[in-house]
Amino acid sequence: MATRKLLLLPGDGIGPEVMAEVSRLLGFLAKSGIASFEIEEGLVGGGCYDAHKVSITEETMAKAHAADAVIFGAVGGPKWDDVPYDVRPEAGLLRLRKDLGLFANIRPAICYPALAESSSLKREVVEGLDIIILRELTGGVYFGEPKTITDLGNGQKRAVDTQVYDTYEIERIARVGFELARRRRNKVTSMEKRNVMKTGVLWREVVTDVHAREYKDVELEHMLADAGGMQIVRWPKQFDVIVTDNLFGDMLSDIAAMLTGSLGMLPSASLGEVDAKTKRRKALYEPVHGSAPDIAGKGIANPIAMLASFGMALRYSFNMGKEADLLDAAIAAVLAKGLRTADIKSDGAKIVSTSEMGEAVVGELERLSV
Ligand SMILES: NC(=O)c1ccc[n+]([C@@H]2O[C@H](COP(=O)([O-])OP(=O)(O)OC[C@H]3O[C@@H](n4cnc5c(N)ncnc54)[C@H](O)[C@@H]3O)[C@@H](O)[C@H]2O)c1
Repeated sequence: MATRKLLLLPGDGIGPEVMAEVSRLLGFLAKSGIASFEIEEGLVGGGCYDAHKVSITEETMAKAHAADAVIFGAVGGPKWDDVPYDVRPEAGLLRLRKDLGLFANIRPAICYPALAESSSLKREVVEGLDIIILRELTGGVYFGEPKTITDLGNGQKRAVDTQVYDTYEIERIARVGFELARRRRNKVTSMEKRNVMKTGVLWREVVTDVHAREYKDVELEHMLADAGGMQIVRWPKQFDVIVTDNLFGDMLSDIAAMLTGSLGMLPSASLGEVDAKTKRRKALYEPVHGSAPDIAGKGIANPIAMLASFGMALRYSFNMGKEADLLDAAIAAVLAKGLRTADIKSDGAKIVSTSEMGEAVVGELERLSV
């Protein structure tokens, strides 16, 4: 790859604190000759509102379009609770997702052995867990029209949301699922509610067709989304990649997230279409957590979700799977040594700051890289 273009958007609250650890990692990758990146930075969220009265500027949007990957921290905080709705901090993130056409949301649920005790489930159920929930992000009931509340005039109101999916939307998310599975344990579980929803009937039909046409080598199973929810908490290790719609994905990914312990550990990626000419796809990587105003400025935030999000960029935008594996191994090793930020503290562990955790992960990566 000739150039690797990154746009870093640290955002608000703990966003800049955890992004600083990505910069530390980038510094190491460049210095050690492993990889260098062309790096741009920009404002987003409340900080951008303070400077420009919008949550993201056109200039930053242009940089996002030009980048191979946007690395996003977090936005929001009580300071901006009363700003106008269309320029609220979250609007910047929503604009990025929409304008970059990010339809595929990848949320891994990984349980590092050292943290198995902090899950609400039994150790043997979650230890070593490594699954992905792939959620369709731009269609379905969150966006379908009509979307209304009507006064019926008899003291009653009627609310309508509309679940809509076209074939192409299901095809493209299914393809992402099969491609992901091919790089992993080669199994896709598709979840819908075909027993009560027409979109579920079409979802299953289209996923089955894409599989038969293009991905026969991947194992495919279908599951009703409610049964899937039960199976995720009963025995999550049966899954590899779960592909599902926007609504079910929203819920199932949060359930899966909780299998693994703290919010400070959870990365995510959102991918767009592959550009036919450049063969690259738009992508945004962000931790699942928000700006954590309650701990912002204290230097105690857990940078692992942010670092692991950057690891996903290495894997999915830059074809650097080996380096991404090493980063994951470095995180696991640091945890196994007993280092913990306050959010994941356990008996006998050493509590460290954000920068100490980042330094330890990069140090471990350096050791593993030789
Ligand atoms: N994508 C985003 O930018 C995003 C996502 C969710 C919430 N938000 C915004 O963030 C603000 C706070 O929202 P919230 O409190 O509901 O969610 P949050 O994720 O910011 O925090 C929830 C709890 O988890 C803790 N936490 C979160 N990340 C952590 C980390 N890396 N290390 C240690 N502890 C961590 C926080 O201290 C807090 O107690 C709000 O303004 C909200 O709108 C932004």
